[in-house]
Amino acid sequence: MNVTTDQLFKVAYGKFAIGAYNINNMEQAIGLFRGHTHAQAPMIIQISRGARSYAGVRMLEAIIRAAEEEFPETIFSVHLDHGDEATCYDAIDSGFYTSVMIDASHEPFDENVAITRRVVEHAHARGVSVEAEIGQLGGIEEDIVVDEKLATLTDPDEAAEFVRQTGCDSLAVAIGTSHGAYKFTGAQRVHIERIAEIQQRLPGFPLVMHGSSSVPAEEVARINAAGGKLDPSAKGVDADQFAEAYPLGVCKINIDTDGRLVYTRVFREHFRDHPENFDFRKPGKVLFEEFANFIVEKSRKLGSYGKLDEVRAALS
Ligand code: 13P
Repeated sequence: MNVTTDQLFKVAYGKFAIGAYNINNMEQAIGLFRGHTHAQAPMIIQISRGARSYAGVRMLEAIIRAAEEEFPETIFSVHLDHGDEATCYDAIDSGFYTSVMIDASHEPFDENVAITRRVVEHAHARGVSVEAEIGQLGGIEEDIVVDEKLATLTDPDEAAEFVRQTGCDSLAVAIGTSHGAYKFTGAQRVHIERIAEIQQRLPGFPLVMHGSSSVPAEEVARINAAGGKLDPSAKGVDADQFAEAYPLGVCKINIDTDGRLVYTRVFREHFRDHPENFDFRKPGKVLFEEFANFIVEKSRKLGSYGKLDEVRAALS
C-alpha cells in the first residue's frame, strides 16, 4: 500500500524511525520488499534524479508496482529524493509518488523558502507530502558535491521559521552527517544535541536524517579482499544512535551507501570465487537474500521492526 510519508510519520513520531532506502533496479527492489516483509516494518522507497535517469522513470514505477503485487502486505511511501523544482512537479503530477523532497538548501534562506512554498502548494493540492531541507550536508549525493568546510549545521531558530513560512511536512536537518562512504574523519560526529534543540523549536514536527549509512568496516574489508579499492578508513553513522534520534522526532532515516556496499560485496565475492561463471543470476539470488537481511537488521536499529500492524491499524 502506497501511502504518504505524513501518514507514516503520524504513527512513528517519537517512537521509531522509518528507513528510507534508495533503489535503482529490480534486484534492490526485491531485497527491499522481501526484507520489509520479513521485518514487518513500513518503509520509504527513495528514487533520486540519478535513479530516474539510470533506470527510466516508468521502469522504476513498474518495478515498484510489480514488487507490491509480489509482496502485498507491505506499506510504503514512494519518495523523490533530493528533487529540484521541475522534478518535484513531474513526480507529483505522475500520481505515483506520495512524497517529494525539494532540496533548495544551497539557495539563500528566502529563495529556499520561496521555492519550497511553491512546491508545497502544488503537492498539497494533490495530496502529496513534502520534505524540505535547511542547512548544508557535506559529501557527495549524485551530482551535488558539498565541501565539508561549507557544510553547516541547521540553525534551530531558522528551522522553525522555515517551517512556519513554507508549510512543508518534514524537514531534513544538517546535524553532522554527510552523504557517501567517507563521512567522518577527525572530530566529525552526529550532533544529537542539535536535534534536541531543533525539536524544542518544532515540537511534534517530523525531522529527517540524511547521510545515515554505517559503512561497516567489515563490509569495506570484504569488498577490498575481493578486489575493491575502498578507503579502509571509511566511516559512517553508528546505527545504535538511531535510538537516540527517533525519540527526538527524527521519523525518517536515509540509507543508500550501505545498500550499495552489500550489492558490491556480493557480486565481487561471487565472481572472485567463481571466475568461470558468467550467470549473474547466481550472485543476484544471493543479493536478494543478503539485501533482505540487511534491511531486517536496519529495521531493528530503527525501531520499525514489527510495527506494520500498528501502521495498518492507524491507516484503517
Ligand atoms: P548515505 O550516503 O549515508 O547512505 O545517505 C543517503 C542519503 O541521505 C540519501 O538522501
